[in-house]
Amino acid sequence: MTDADKFLYGDRSGGSNPLAQADWSTKKLVWVPSEKLGFEAGSVKEEQGDECVVELTDSGKKVKINKDDIQKMNPPKFSKVEDMAELTCLNEASVLHNLKERYYSGLIYTYSGLFCVVVNPYKNLPIYSEDIVNMYKGKKRHEMPPHIYAITDTAYRSMMQDREDQSILCTGESGAGKTENTKKVIQYLAHVASSFKSKKDQGELEKQLLQANPILEAFGNAKTVKNDNSSRFGKFIRINFDVNGYIVGANIETCILFRNMLNYEIVL
Ligand SMILES: Nc1ncnc2c1ncn2[C@@H]1O[C@H](COP(=O)(O)OP(=O)(O)OP(=O)(O)O)[C@@H](O)[C@H]1O
Ligand SMILES: [Mg+2]
Repeated sequence: MTDADKFLYGDRSGGSNPLAQADWSTKKLVWVPSEKLGFEAGSVKEEQGDECVVELTDSGKKVKINKDDIQKMNPPKFSKVEDMAELTCLNEASVLHNLKERYYSGLIYTYSGLFCVVVNPYKNLPIYSEDIVNMYKGKKRHEMPPHIYAITDTAYRSMMQDREDQSILCTGESGAGKTENTKKVIQYLAHVASSFKSKKDQGELEKQLLQANPILEAFGNAKTVKNDNSSRFGKFIRINFDVNGYIVGANIETCILFRNMLNYEIVL
């Protein structure tokens, strides 16, 4: 297992534990809303009309709660699932639990159907090297662990196959990682879309595209409570390709942001 594998595949040893499976089927495990933790795991002990009594797993405390307020827990085989569209019980508690479990295992990317949810790791992970770019090149989305590179590769292949413009929208609250992930999209495209040219060309192209960012950031970024490097304007980045799929140019348009609205960055 390489260093990067840990941050792409996680710890695979947990797997489907038969004990956990038995526990799940006998205990009627559910999620109960909690002020401090969001949701807490519990086991339904009694049911009385619209209400039920749930024993909280961690504290052992029993709480009476309306049935509408509890959410079903997924069987343990879905633990740290890569695509949350696969969950049997698709509810808020299960989505948050899955993202949290993956994040604690170092897995920041998770699919939710066509979307890719990213949780900011606030540290540099070894998952953006040239080797990793090469690993994702031309692979089908579900052959590889979730990654911004897989999203980018899918967009690139769709553009080549369908001959249609594609777009990738990065959205989220301040500090979520839009700007960082946008840079990874450009890095991937610059690599993939110039792979048949000489090494020197590829380096220049990638550099030119990525170097536009620090210039824009120098004028347009500021330190805020949420983000040391917070963008003061949104970006619409258009990348043009020729018929063979090589990058032939790019331009960046900026737009004023209203900081109480959702920020976005688009690569086309
Ligand atoms: N994938 C990542 N790996 C490592 N660090 C990251 C990653 N994503 C984000 N960060 C860290 O979080 C910080 C904030 O991310 P970023 O600037 O991309 O947020 P943003 O969504 O663009 O926020 P804003 O809306 O304020 O511009 C980055 O400066 C970086 O330190
Ligand atoms: Mg930003």
